[in-house]
This record gives sequence, structure tokens and C-alpha cells, in this order.
Amino acid sequence: MASSRGLKVHQSRGEIFRRRLVELEIFDRDRKIRSEDDRLYLPILELNAETAAELAKVGDFDLVEVEFEAAERRPNVEGLLGRRAHFEVVGDVAIADSPDEEVASAILAVHKNVKTVLSPKTPVEGEYRTRRFQFVAGEEKTVTLHKEHGLLYRIDLEKAYFTPRLGTERLRVARQIGLGEVVFDMFAGVGPFALLLAKRGAKVIAVDKNPHAVRLLRENARLNRIDDVEIVEGDAGELAERYERSADHVIMNLPHTASRFLEQATRIAKDGGVVHYYAIASEDDLYGRDTAFVEEAARAAGAKISYLHRGIVRSYAPHQYNIVIDFEVRKP
Ligand SMILES: C[S@@+](CC[C@H](N)C(=O)[O-])C[C@H]1O[C@@H](n2cnc3c(N)ncnc32)[C@H](O)[C@@H]1O
Repeated sequence: MASSRGLKVHQSRGEIFRRRLVELEIFDRDRKIRSEDDRLYLPILELNAETAAELAKVGDFDLVEVEFEAAERRPNVEGLLGRRAHFEVVGDVAIADSPDEEVASAILAVHKNVKTVLSPKTPVEGEYRTRRFQFVAGEEKTVTLHKEHGLLYRIDLEKAYFTPRLGTERLRVARQIGLGEVVFDMFAGVGPFALLLAKRGAKVIAVDKNPHAVRLLRENARLNRIDDVEIVEGDAGELAERYERSADHVIMNLPHTASRFLEQATRIAKDGGVVHYYAIASEDDLYGRDTAFVEEAARAAGAKISYLHRGIVRSYAPHQYNIVIDFEVRKP
């Protein structure tokens, strides 16, 4: 083990610091993060005045010299290319940040299961949260079959929203849900929350406004032999009255605009029900704005709330995070 530079940070801020180091391209991937008591040691490549100033915005840290274990190196796209490449894999399709043919060839060479490389032509946009893609290499298609937590999902990347980056979050929610509990998934997409929870014994009502998402959700329920899910095509906000006080859990995975539906979600929750609310928030005010939205909605719905969890789900853009707030609803 060689001694090298690292940041010593409080464990609770560790993930934010790690993501920022990756964004600043100074996280040392050749070394393993160390944990001791309530501190994390994050290996870094270098630190100059500019990057130090950026990190200071994230919180307190100490610059230390410590011993890090070497991280195992498997053949990877960046090693082959000799430069950084950003991409994610959904089923057998890789989505690369740019339509770079060299990157695409490296992805196809390293990831033998990948058959297609696409690159987004538009951001995720519109009410249905979809995007258009440019074909870069391999087989020309946007449809794939993706496996997550043992379930299979038919996905059409252009027609309905899906990201594999919420896989861990879906498990976190799944662990809170008891057998036979009623879950109302307001923005269900192709079903990655809804079907996982139904598979684990919840009674799920899954709603989406996008007819393509609903078609794929029905197909995915069949594919995984899941019957205990009521699939509704429509506007979740308009269904609030019909499902008032029906749910033990309400899932609101529409991070840019979920705040508009908070009052309806609070109405759909039973007394004692839990709302899982997602938003995009900026680093300097992670929970303040959305906590105010939650409280305003609770007042409008005549409910009392208590917070069960607030956390970062993933980084979304520089200085912006996809956050979650779980709150319990109490009704007179
Ligand atoms: C960010 S995606 C999330 C999908 C899914 N929960 C997931 O994890 O993949 C949000 C979904 O909400 C749907 N949507 C947007 N507005 C809606 C509304 N008012 N009622 C129901 N669904 C809506 C979109 O069509 C989209 O599929």
C-alpha cells in the first residue's frame, strides 16, 4: 500500500464529495475509498486552488496523506480509449453522451453484451419525459430488454422514460413496503417501481399518461407474470379524488414537476400513509424549497406530516441533485 493524497470527510457528506470529485475529474479510480469510524477517506489525483475552492462549496474536508489499497482494474472503455467516456447501458443498448464513433467502437469491444450505441439528440423533455436519439453504431434500434432486480423490462428508449440509475433507489423504497400494502405509483413509466413492489407482495395501482409507457408497462407485467397490478392510463392528478385515502405508499417519481401534484398525493395517502417525493434541487439548498412545497400541500389537504427520510438519489447536473423526501401523512 502506498501513501497518497486524499480528502477526509464526514461519512454523511461522503457521496456528495465523491460525485463532485468525479465531476472535477480528480477522483483517483486506481485506489479504494477507506472508511474509519464516521470518516471517509477519498483518494484524489491532484488538488489546485480552483478545485479546492469548488470542494469547499460542498463542505468541510481535510487534505491528508494516507494509505489506500489499490483498486482492481478490469479492461474498460476509458483504458482502451486513453480518455474519459460517459455512457450508460440499458439492456443491450449503450447510451453515450456524444455520438463519437471511437467511443462507440470501444464500448462495443469491451461490453460484449452491447449491440447498439446511441447518443441523445435532445434532452429528456416534455410531459412524457422522453428524448430522441441519434444512432451511432451496431444494430439500429431503440427497443431493448433490460433486467433489474430479477425482473425483465421491455423498454423503448424513445417512446417512454427509463433510467437504470434509479435501481438502488427502487430497492430502498421496496424495503419499506409490507405484504398486502397498497401502493399508488403516480408516474409509473414502464413499471420499474410498480412491478418490483407488486412482485414483493404489494397491491399496486400504476398510473401513467403516456400511452406508450402504459403499453410497455402492461407488456412488462405479463412478461414477469405479475397480476396484482392495476394499470391506469391517465393523469394522476385527476385520479386523486377517486383514490382518496387509499394508499399506504404514494410514489411521485416525476422530479421536475412532482411538486404540482403534492396536494393530490397527500390526499391519496391513507392516515399513516407515506409519500415518496422526488425533486431536482440545487446543492446550496438541497431540501429547503421542497420541504416548503410539502408543507404547503399538507396544509391544503388538511393533513399533518412528519419526515421519515431526506436524501440524495443521484447527481443530476453540476451542482444539482435528484433528491427524495419521504413523509408520513396524518389525517384527522
Ligand atoms: C420520470 S418518469 C418516471 C417513470 C418511472 N417511475 C421510472 O422510474 O422509470 C415520469 C413519468 O410520468 C409520466 N407523467 C407525466 N405527467 C403525468 C401525469 N400528470 N399523470 C401521470 N403520469 C404522468 C410520464 O409519462 C413519465 O412516464
